Amino acid sequence: MTHLPPVPPALTEALLAPAATQPHDATSVPIFQTSSFLFDRYEDLAAVFAGRSDRFIYTRGDNPTVAELEALIARLEGTEAARGFASGMAAISAAIIPFVQAGDRVVAVENLYSDAFRLFEVVLGKFGVTTQYVDGADTDAVIAALPGARLVYLESPTSWTFTLQDLAAIGAAARAEGVISVIDNSWATPLYQRPAEAGIDLIVHAASKYLSGHSDTIAGLVTGPKALIDRINHDAYHYLGGKLSPFDAWLVLRGMRSLNLRMARHMENGLALGRALADHPEVTALRHPAFHDHPGRAGLSGFGGLFAFDLAEGIDIPRFADALRLTKIGVSWGGPESLVIPAEAALGLSGSANSFRRFGVSPRSIRFAAGLEEPEALVADVLSAIDEARR
Ligand SMILES: Cc1ncc(COP(=O)(O)O)c(C=O)c1O
Repeated sequence: MTHLPPVPPALTEALLAPAATQPHDATSVPIFQTSSFLFDRYEDLAAVFAGRSDRFIYTRGDNPTVAELEALIARLEGTEAARGFASGMAAISAAIIPFVQAGDRVVAVENLYSDAFRLFEVVLGKFGVTTQYVDGADTDAVIAALPGARLVYLESPTSWTFTLQDLAAIGAAARAEGVISVIDNSWATPLYQRPAEAGIDLIVHAASKYLSGHSDTIAGLVTGPKALIDRINHDAYHYLGGKLSPFDAWLVLRGMRSLNLRMARHMENGLALGRALADHPEVTALRHPAFHDHPGRAGLSGFGGLFAFDLAEGIDIPRFADALRLTKIGVSWGGPESLVIPAEAALGLSGSANSFRRFGVSPRSIRFAAGLEEPEALVADVLSAIDEARR
């Protein structure tokens, strides 16, 4: 029987029922697949433009289905307001761009998600914003980099190395220095890590991953204090235009109704694999936050199922990947199926900013997204693939 890690009952309750009463008392949130909304009278439209009414007007701004998801993520994260975006990357850009300008310095953790790294290097760099990368596990180093910075960008745990950060210590130091703090919380989800309680300002989610959970949509969310979400609305959201569509918001809402059960199984499978690989003679490193001590662990009530391990030189990596039967080869994570990507393949990524090279990700590293399969079957799949791939 799956062990459920402690999730406050109020969060489970929020997942199971929509925040607002739906038209015709529908059990599930309807998809308002409309670009715009009509007004009977001139005055009704003028009232919206003048800020005297919050009626829906145009879906690039607000839409009832998307608003339901925005309310849900704010409720789960314990924040005041939220915005839905067409992808996790659109959410990350919107959480950063309004707050920085030419000449600013941003602090970011090493081994952040590769496209977030490119956003900092290629896009922000072009507009005169520099990024200083620090080892997120080294809390003193992160805090030492804060004075004079505009924003600090965290991902706990990071991609590929799965390095945790001490959110409470960094959040408090950032507030004291007047530095806006942003975290990518896609891995832990609000069920297992609530950064706002640790003093982090803005929380972003690649809702394409665990929140939607079915490998069928791309979506992003930003949530935080109303004042900062207002800044995002006024300085980025409407003009950059990366709005989440009503249908995709609905897919995320539908997926989230089973988030607590799915996360428990992702976690169980990740831990079962971690235990099987920790002392395996052909595994030279296990990169999973449950298997390493760090103060950041105190802020986690559970673990995502995404982690990495390094295979010894005696294992042929392409043969290992091809020998997997239950587990598929592919990018992304958070869906029902287990997926692997060997770093060796990703090292070939072209472009001016390759985070794998920049941060020295081991070419022997395998990123593994544990899905929802039976734990014993998944462990057997990985162990037999390692056996078959011996040189
Ligand atoms: C940790 C992390 N953050 C953000 C993203 C970006 O999400 P999206 O693909 O929805 O833009 C990803 C996607 O792969 C990711 O792994």
